[in-house]
Amino acid sequence: MKSIVLVGLMGAGKTSVGRRLADMLALGFVDADEEITKAAGRSIEDIFEDYGEKAFRDVEERVIQRLLVEKPRVLATGGGAFMNPRNRQLIGERAISVWLRADLDVLVRRTSRRGGRPLLKNKDHKATLGKLIEERHPIYGEADIVVDSREDGPEVTARVIKQALADYSPPTGQDSH
Ligand code: S3P
Repeated sequence: MKSIVLVGLMGAGKTSVGRRLADMLALGFVDADEEITKAAGRSIEDIFEDYGEKAFRDVEERVIQRLLVEKPRVLATGGGAFMNPRNRQLIGERAISVWLRADLDVLVRRTSRRGGRPLLKNKDHKATLGKLIEERHPIYGEADIVVDSREDGPEVTARVIKQALADYSPPTGQDSH
């Protein structure tokens, strides 16, 4: 049994969908950003402010590594995690990755509901997320499975992922354990 790793942009619903998916699969759920916050003893916003993004990415990599070697689980990653080639490689080895895809309007609407995201702080969400879509969607597209984040709730999206996982067979040559 491999871990299931949710990737995608801020506001895609990785955490809320991940929790439900974990329940459905009877697996534990863990949120990488929450673990980073615990490990560092400060909020994501404070880490960015006090130490900069590079330091955040280093902690993020270490935390994701630890979470993926510990045991199989559902892991929600922060939006930038899959952009790091070392994270992508490890996720490829130890997990099935699921890109939770959402379009710009959905992301803008959802990210306006909560703060705490340094990349969006004092920024035009639409312009910033539009740029991130251009940069990141091609990379998220390398995930094993792509599922659209639905507007009728995280429960429904989690069910769609559960079915996609049941239908998924890894490309030949890849370890399927
Ligand atoms: C980031 C996304 C955030 C968090 C950090 C950076 C990104 O996580 O890791 O603010 O680079 O997209 P969410 O995607 O859970 O908001």
